[in-house]
Amino acid sequence: MNAPPPFALLAELTHRCPLACPYCSNPLDLDRKADELSTDEWTRVFGQAAELGILQLHLSGGEPATRHDLTELVAAASEAGLYTNLITSGIGLDAGRLALLARAGLDHVQLSIQDVDAANADRVAGLAGSHRRKRAFAGLVSEGGLPLTINAVLHRGNLARMAAMVDEAIAMGARRIELAHAQYYGWAARNRDALMPDMADALAARDTVAALRDRTSHQITIDYVPPDHFARYPKPCMNGWGRQSLNVTPRGLVLPCHAAQTIPGLAFWSVRDYPLAAIWQESPAFGAFRGTDWMAEPCRSCDRREIDFGGCRCQAMALTGDPRNADPVCVLSPFHDRVEHLTTRQRSDAYVMRGRPSRQAERSAVADSTPDHATEEHDDAQHIAG
Ligand code: SF4
Ligand code: FES
Repeated sequence: MNAPPPFALLAELTHRCPLACPYCSNPLDLDRKADELSTDEWTRVFGQAAELGILQLHLSGGEPATRHDLTELVAAASEAGLYTNLITSGIGLDAGRLALLARAGLDHVQLSIQDVDAANADRVAGLAGSHRRKRAFAGLVSEGGLPLTINAVLHRGNLARMAAMVDEAIAMGARRIELAHAQYYGWAARNRDALMPDMADALAARDTVAALRDRTSHQITIDYVPPDHFARYPKPCMNGWGRQSLNVTPRGLVLPCHAAQTIPGLAFWSVRDYPLAAIWQESPAFGAFRGTDWMAEPCRSCDRREIDFGGCRCQAMALTGDPRNADPVCVLSPFHDRVEHLTTRQRSDAYVMRGRPSRQAERSAVADSTPDHATEEHDDAQHIAG
């Protein structure tokens, strides 16, 4: 069976990053710089992506600006005819570099913020001064005329300032803000107890978003990703496995979703060995959960199976030990009590900050507003800015 072509490709250009957010969706085992795809290899991938029918390219990381060839990569993607969206912390991008990216054909910038409270934002980012630098970068994007979206990951440490984050995004010149509750994969899964809001706050957030949309509809578009652990039914993760999009890791493995490597037994083909079209159509990992044939009960006979596709395979794996099970967020799942347990258990104050490859550090979420390694990371940020 020929799968319809994907719509979007997420290119994780690198796992290197000057920040250390505890909700990072990168895997715990980060790819090393020495293993990253070269400029030529990414250029080939972008050409193959366009031939496959992909329209949108999301350039992500880690921090994509840590790649010194970012401008060349944007130019290659643009030449291939892809719409290019840069997902960035803004650290490492000054006016000159941004102008080069725009000239190379960059279409859109998505800037992450951690909070509007600068001290808390810097603490969560693990880099002193980062929020101030993000504000400055947003100004450069707006002055340069590039469309700007603000991304904010919501969690118990910033949920109360959702309205202020929307006002900040408007002040930054953004046309859109994505307010997305933390998704518990990678480092976020490790920090679940420190990130997950209480149930009352999670449920109240929906009403807050409705009120914010009413107040700001003429100024900004608000996209909202609800906290699925408190929902009745799961999210349609990736809009279905192998259905619309794919991820390429820094070392070239092609994944159906960012957490797919947590599912044992799946072999991921590399762009170093196969063309992207062959991987999309023929690789066993993409075929594993495509469509509905793989489903077990209760999904197999459920009316919602083509709506949410059984939820998230990686969450089913993490919480039930079998990726073919219904996502236990679903109230119909026989494992739903495991999600209820997570939402009601004692919360924690301690983050494990996202590390560099082979590095990580325990941090306090409530004290220590300037992490020890901020200076060291700052040096790195200065380095990449140059
Ligand atoms: Fe979705 Fe499966 Fe739950 Fe039905 S049983 S709502 S398909 S997760
Ligand atoms: Fe892998 Fe949801 S993150 S299927």
